[in-house]
Amino acid sequence: MLSSKDIRLSFIDFFRSKGHQFVHSSPVVPESDPTLLFTNAGMNQFKDIFLGLRERDFPRVVNSQKCIRAGGKHNDLEEVGQDGYHHTFFEMLGNWSFADYYKKEAIAWAWELLTEVWKLPKDKLYATVHDSDQEAYHIWKSETDINLAHISFHGDKDNFWEMGETGPCGPCSEIHIDRGEGTCDKGHDPEHVCGVNSGCARYIELWNLVFIQYKREADRSLTPLKDRFVDTGAGLERVTQVLQDKHSNYETDLFMPIIDRLAQLSGKAYDIETGVSHRVIADHVRCLCFALADGGFPSNEGRGYVLRRILRRAARHGRLLGFTEPFLYLLVNIVVEIMGHHFTELKGKEEYIRTVIKAEEERFNHTLDIGLQRFEEIVDKLEGKTIAGKDAFMLYDTYGFPLDLTQILASEHGLDVDLAGFEAEMEAQRERARSSSKFSYSAEDVEWITLTELSPTEFVGYTEPEAKVRIQSYYFDEEGLIHLRLDKTPFYAESGGQVADTGMIFDADFEVQITDVQKHADYYIHTGKVLKGSPHAGELTAKIDVARRKDIARNHTLTHLVHKALRELLGEHVQQKGSLVAPDHARFDFTHQAALDKAQIHALERSVNEVILQNREVSTAVLPIEEAKKQGAIALFGEKYADDVRVVSVEDYSKELCGGTHVQATGEIGLCKIESESSSAAGIRRLEVLSGRAALEHVNHLQERLHDIANKLKSPDKQLEEKLDALIQKNKDLEEELKNQAAKHGRDQLGNIMQRAEQMDGFRFLASEVKAETAEQLRTMGDDIKSQATDMIAFLFAPSADKVSILCVVGSALKDRFHAGKLIGQVAAVLGGKGGGRPDSAMAGGKDASLIPQAVEKARSLVNEV
Ligand code: ALA
Repeated sequence: MLSSKDIRLSFIDFFRSKGHQFVHSSPVVPESDPTLLFTNAGMNQFKDIFLGLRERDFPRVVNSQKCIRAGGKHNDLEEVGQDGYHHTFFEMLGNWSFADYYKKEAIAWAWELLTEVWKLPKDKLYATVHDSDQEAYHIWKSETDINLAHISFHGDKDNFWEMGETGPCGPCSEIHIDRGEGTCDKGHDPEHVCGVNSGCARYIELWNLVFIQYKREADRSLTPLKDRFVDTGAGLERVTQVLQDKHSNYETDLFMPIIDRLAQLSGKAYDIETGVSHRVIADHVRCLCFALADGGFPSNEGRGYVLRRILRRAARHGRLLGFTEPFLYLLVNIVVEIMGHHFTELKGKEEYIRTVIKAEEERFNHTLDIGLQRFEEIVDKLEGKTIAGKDAFMLYDTYGFPLDLTQILASEHGLDVDLAGFEAEMEAQRERARSSSKFSYSAEDVEWITLTELSPTEFVGYTEPEAKVRIQSYYFDEEGLIHLRLDKTPFYAESGGQVADTGMIFDADFEVQITDVQKHADYYIHTGKVLKGSPHAGELTAKIDVARRKDIARNHTLTHLVHKALRELLGEHVQQKGSLVAPDHARFDFTHQAALDKAQIHALERSVNEVILQNREVSTAVLPIEEAKKQGAIALFGEKYADDVRVVSVEDYSKELCGGTHVQATGEIGLCKIESESSSAAGIRRLEVLSGRAALEHVNHLQERLHDIANKLKSPDKQLEEKLDALIQKNKDLEEELKNQAAKHGRDQLGNIMQRAEQMDGFRFLASEVKAETAEQLRTMGDDIKSQATDMIAFLFAPSADKVSILCVVGSALKDRFHAGKLIGQVAAVLGGKGGGRPDSAMAGGKDASLIPQAVEKARSLVNEV
């Protein structure tokens, strides 16, 4: 039987023999394509070649692409687990022609590989073609020996393939296989008729041959492309199912080791009929491993939210298998074992993936427990059969229940969920988020006084620190601060983590000190304090605080260097998760599981300072987003970008999409000091970094502290360590000596006290106040008594400022007669305390030292009673 590994290789080798170049799979998280949630097809990485935006490197290409279809146009999430051949993550085997061969070769080679190399039975294979594509039909007829009755025509729904809402597309021809009678999974549906495209498991699609000819535009029209292309995709999992003659993809060697381990961990064997949870988990854990390895990270929005939902769906199915503790992370190594030889990017990231998954599972388990209770409460109070959208939204918003989880729970109770109501709540929340992220006041709510015509503010501050401006409108707020709209401005408004510029707007009669600038749609709103005069329509000078701006620029460029250096040092999974760029410091949050150790922080600082010393040029350019991506510019995950974007480059070292202000060459940053490294949230680390003046000040401050310490120790700086070591040693010696003295004192004291023991009936009784600084000292005294007098029971009372420590010890000869633990409680009670312990030695605490004589009496009467 061919293994999945052999099958992948035989596909690649077959097309190599037909002149194709092998290229590696691109990441599942597309680095800078905001139109795409996840890589959903083999052709994604070639999109720009189809659109004529990039030259082809090779005319023919073959690869095996990692794909995720869990959101966006191609979304299979809900189906996963229900049947045996849909996945969130799968591998697409593909061959491409970039303006080279076309339909004839594509069809003939597919047929050759399927029937001659893989030897699939011809009478089980079916082909579909697009209604309009007579050419493809005739090629099937002339170039292959397929049974003509097995070729059928279909419309756009089945035979016109599109990557997304926009992008390359074209008619396609699919190859399906009949898995034979008894494999249909739609038998319960009386309407169902088995056949190609009928949606059952008997006829499954194996391979799609797309003839890319058009670009779908945003207005839904089709523009013909300059050239013609072949884009094919065959699901490795399905081909493997067929070649390994399994009932479903899950029984192949791609999934079975995961399912076996799951069965072992849960104690629930896999059964095809009831194995939905096994399948969901096996599928989802593969998806998570690849997404995390390629830089995805669970979060509350965009791609991150899809990953969080996938993880939670798997975790929820884990509950159905009886798991109450994290378990998904225990499957990671199996995924790496199965896939790591081909997708080597998994290997070094195994530990990282485990940690992220485990942390997410822990968090979800916690909310799930509370959320499940809430769900039951909702069901208890429910009248009718539909869970309100409001409740489903509350479960989503507060307890992190993905909607489909609520739906699963509901259907288990024979209920459904008001989806429209849920959507309405979602939309209301989006609206709330939108308005809260705008402004603390609403610009429309206040009475603006207009001086000159309104127009969007022109920002001239990338190049000009000063400009001649006019006030368009203004108002004073309750605190007396003025808010100004200007026709143009050199002031940078707070955005992308960079704080706003400060400075002055003035002429001879009027002066405002600007303390904040915010962007509101197309307007920059300058807030400040009027120092002189009143606003007027004439020309004014707007001037930013240049020294402060330079400090900010240093820190902003510094964050780009840190970002790049972190990716080099820790790996490509590092993603920026937020930043603050201020004049006196910068903060940089990024995804990474573990704290950075001292050596890593040093290495990071060293490599950033190296780039600073190289004085590399920093340049900016405004480019179409496609072009920026082509150049490898890093975009922030989840950010929406305009068609034209600003790219900030540090020569060939770093390239980021960024609207901020930067230095002209890295040398201006002066020095990088990492002030601290800490945790910001689960899986997110935070660096505080300093540059320029602040970094120098920081170093000076450290040096001064060192001098001060040296002075206090009366040591030259250089001998500080020696001096400190000597002091520490001396301190240790003194402590040791003190301890010896205390022990000696204790023994002396004990000698005297023990003489006071009273002879009773067959034993000696001692009850005495003693001096002991610590519980340990008291215990040592007790041990000494026990070792010196096996026939003695002793109660020692050690009063201190606010309490009395009490110890009772019973000599070994009396062990059958007295129980220290029991007696001491009653004695302590006299002093208003309590305690207990072992039969031979027990400790207690009391409060009132003045009652020690009574406690002694109590002890005496107790021992005499026994
Ligand atoms: N791009 C085509 C698909 O994904 C081959 O099905």
